[in-house]
Amino acid sequence: MARIIGGLATSHVPAIANAISKRLYDDPYWEPFFAGYPPVHDWLHEIQPDVAVVFYNDHGLNFFLDALPTFAVGAAAMYRSEDEGWGIGTVQPFEGIPDLSWHIIESTMAAGFDLTTCQEMKVDHGFWIPMELFWETRPPGLKVVPIHVNTVQHPIPTAARCEAFGTAVGEAIRSFPGDQKVVVIGTGGLSHQLEGERAGFINREFDELCFESLISDDRSAITQYSNRDLVELAGTQGTEIINWLAMRGAVGGEVVEVHRNYHIPISNTAAGLLAIEPVGARAGV
Ligand code: DHB
Ligand code: FE
Repeated sequence: MARIIGGLATSHVPAIANAISKRLYDDPYWEPFFAGYPPVHDWLHEIQPDVAVVFYNDHGLNFFLDALPTFAVGAAAMYRSEDEGWGIGTVQPFEGIPDLSWHIIESTMAAGFDLTTCQEMKVDHGFWIPMELFWETRPPGLKVVPIHVNTVQHPIPTAARCEAFGTAVGEAIRSFPGDQKVVVIGTGGLSHQLEGERAGFINREFDELCFESLISDDRSAITQYSNRDLVELAGTQGTEIINWLAMRGAVGGEVVEVHRNYHIPISNTAAGLLAIEPVGARAGV
C-alpha cells in the first residue's frame, strides 16, 4: 500500500514567485523567509517522496465566483499553470497520477464527502509556489494530486470539516494498492487580510496556536472555531489555514516536528512553514 511519509505546509504569496525568478534569496527583505527552506530541501532529499498530494485554494484561475466548488480533486494526467495576473510567470506542467486521484475520489465519496472531480485542472500560485519552494529542482517522476478547498467565497468549509476531509484523504492514500511514498502538503496562511479596513492584519499569537495545534494530535484548539471566528482571528485570507488542517488530518496520528519557520511579513502575510513526520515513518523509508 502507499505510505504517507511526511506533511508540509507553507504560505503561497504571489510575490514569492518573483523573488524566486530574480533569485533574491540573500536580499535583506527575503533572506529570513527563504532561510526557512534549505532544511526542508535536505529532508525531502532524504525521504524521496514519489507523490505530492496538495491541499490548496484556487484564487480565480481554474474556478471563479460564478461556480466555486467546496472540495475539488484533480484527476488529470497533467496540470498546467497559466498567467493569473499578479505579474508572475508560469512553470513547467506537473505530472498527475490519475489512478491515485480516482482512488481518493471514490474512497472519500464513499466516506460521505461530495466532491467535484476535475479531469482538466489549471493550477495557480496556491499550488505551484509551494512546490517551487520545497523542491529547488523538481525531481523527475514526481507526481501530484491537486485538491482545491474553497477559502475564497463564503460559505467556505469549516476547519473541523476540512480536518475530517483530510483524514478521509489520508485513509484513501493508505489504502491505495501501490508502493508510493506520499508527502501531503497544505498551502496558504498564516494570518493575513488583503482588503478592507483591516488590510494588513496579522495575528502572531493565533499563528503560534496554529503551529502548536498542528504538531499536536489534538487540533480542537483550532477546529473549535467557526469561519466567522477564523476571519476575526486570522484575517479574511487567513482562513487558508483550513488547507493546513486538511494536510494534518491526512497525515493523522502522532507526528514529530521536522522544521518550522515564521516570518512577518511577506507582502501582507505572516509567512509560515511547517514540516512534520508521522512517528515511525522513517523506519520504512
Ligand atoms: C497575498 C497572500 C495570498 O495568500 C494570496 O493568495 C495573494 C496575495 C499577499 O500577501 O500579498
Ligand atoms: Fe492565497
